[in-house]
Amino acid sequence: MASVTSLTASVHQRLADALSAALPEAGSADPLLRRSDRADFQANGILALAKKAKANPRELATQVVAQVESGDVIQDIEVSGPGFLNVTITDRAITGNLAARYEDGARLGVPVADHPGTTVIDYAQPNVAKEMHVGHLRSAVIGDAVVQLLEFTGETVVRRHHIGDWGTQFGMLIQYLIEHPHELDHKGGAVSGEEAMSNLNRLYKAARTVFDSDEEFKTRARRRVVDLQAGEPETLAMWQKFVDESKIYFYSVFDKLDMEISDADVVGESGYNDMLDETCRLLEESGVAVRSDGALCVFFDDVKGPDGNPVPLIVRKSDGGYGYAATDLSAIRDRVFNLKATSLIYVVDARQSLHFKMVFETARRAGWLNDDVKAHQLAFGTVLGKDGKPFKTREGETVRLVDLLDEAVERASAVVREKALDLSEAEITERGAQVGIGAVKYADLSTSANRDYKFDLDQMVSLNGDTSVYLQYAYARIQSILRKAGEVRPAAHPELELAGAERALGLHIDAFAEVVAEAATEYAPHKLAAYLYQLASLYTTFYDKCPVLKAETPQQVENRLFLCDVTARTLHQGMALLGIRTPERL
Ligand code: ARG
Repeated sequence: MASVTSLTASVHQRLADALSAALPEAGSADPLLRRSDRADFQANGILALAKKAKANPRELATQVVAQVESGDVIQDIEVSGPGFLNVTITDRAITGNLAARYEDGARLGVPVADHPGTTVIDYAQPNVAKEMHVGHLRSAVIGDAVVQLLEFTGETVVRRHHIGDWGTQFGMLIQYLIEHPHELDHKGGAVSGEEAMSNLNRLYKAARTVFDSDEEFKTRARRRVVDLQAGEPETLAMWQKFVDESKIYFYSVFDKLDMEISDADVVGESGYNDMLDETCRLLEESGVAVRSDGALCVFFDDVKGPDGNPVPLIVRKSDGGYGYAATDLSAIRDRVFNLKATSLIYVVDARQSLHFKMVFETARRAGWLNDDVKAHQLAFGTVLGKDGKPFKTREGETVRLVDLLDEAVERASAVVREKALDLSEAEITERGAQVGIGAVKYADLSTSANRDYKFDLDQMVSLNGDTSVYLQYAYARIQSILRKAGEVRPAAHPELELAGAERALGLHIDAFAEVVAEAATEYAPHKLAAYLYQLASLYTTFYDKCPVLKAETPQQVENRLFLCDVTARTLHQGMALLGIRTPERL
């Protein structure tokens, strides 16, 4: 693994050196380098520096230019406007840089972070005995992309799937199962995810009906909650049946989503039961939490209800029961002190933001979070229907995630079939799934997480525009060119002059490492998605303007094949970081 210094970094270094030579008192000033349409790069940092040094910006810029070492990397540098610097890179440096990335294999010369830490990320957290919906889709898809991004930059990542597997609602279900003991028994053979969920639904409905009509059952169900909390063995065994049945279902959905979730990382709410008492004791002893009407509460100056009265975070209810907050506070202790996290991320719906704000603030007051260990809610927006309202079925019910995924795969298969020239039926099925699931993931990842977005399958599987299908086709098209090249192999020829479209493509590929680093540190996969879309667009322009196999000289054919291949590898790696497949043929 050999990390490659990007052209941006090389130019930055040269300009920074020239700056401090021209204006020693500026120290290590930032030349503020950006990619630009006017030249390859533009530096705007001189203006502010000149102002500070009371110098004429254009004069200072001219002095800087005189100090810049040009030749190997910088072809040309000139002063423009009020004191900007326009920088043009040599063709040799562009090709040479890409060649170094190409040598590095799948990592493409992307360096690892200087000081990686340990991040515990809480994502993909559905609820036991309940259907998964689009909110769970977002958490899973965004969380998975952030995991890939962080791991790629060298971070140690611990995944936590904080499933909703505890609470009073289980009293009713368990009591029903105790009275109808064989309802979740399997007659041998594996149960599919769909069957598991329909078993749970059937049971839920049946239990609900009895609960609503039979007062005595209701009393027994309430007593069962107490048994559950006390850890009574028979009750726990029944509860475990629900958890196991639900996991069959969850895994089937994650599988459909082409996502790996490992059982060891599924630590649901119940996993923190043993810590709840102590969490409360610590909070009470330190004075962070106080008793109020029998409940243990934490108050905040800036959290008030509509009536102006403070709304506390309730850590323990007046009846002694623990809720969502006590569990999350205990999970923080576990993640910080046992898992040794330096960052905590929660990929959770923005509608839970107040909860996390209060939980994080409580943990800070208790000293569990501080400047060395930070927590962040990666809050995501709502998935909307085509009408711009929260996504519902025509009957006004929550849309089942599996139904959506199945429909996406079906639509994608139709697109693949229509375009497919030489694919077998089995291949169409496989590609249909990769394209359909990719489309759903990409639509979710290509807008910034905190924004709402419309779930529009027509748009998602479209071949034109900012879709994963467009990116997948660009990748497959490159593979087909490489296959057609036969014996002729891609090879870099840094001595060749590059066409405009080749330079634009090359400079963009060079920026991959920086985009990955930015997307990882900001937990912003949409920045990588935007980068990849632009990469595919620049490739399309290159492909339209520069013949590859019919280029003028054998060297040019090889060099263009090389550009194709390095584009493909970047697309492939970038899409993989988003959790999206790039089929070799489409
Ligand atoms: N199970 C919850 C839900 O479906 C999300 C859990 C989020 N994670 C957490 N640590 N509270 O909304």
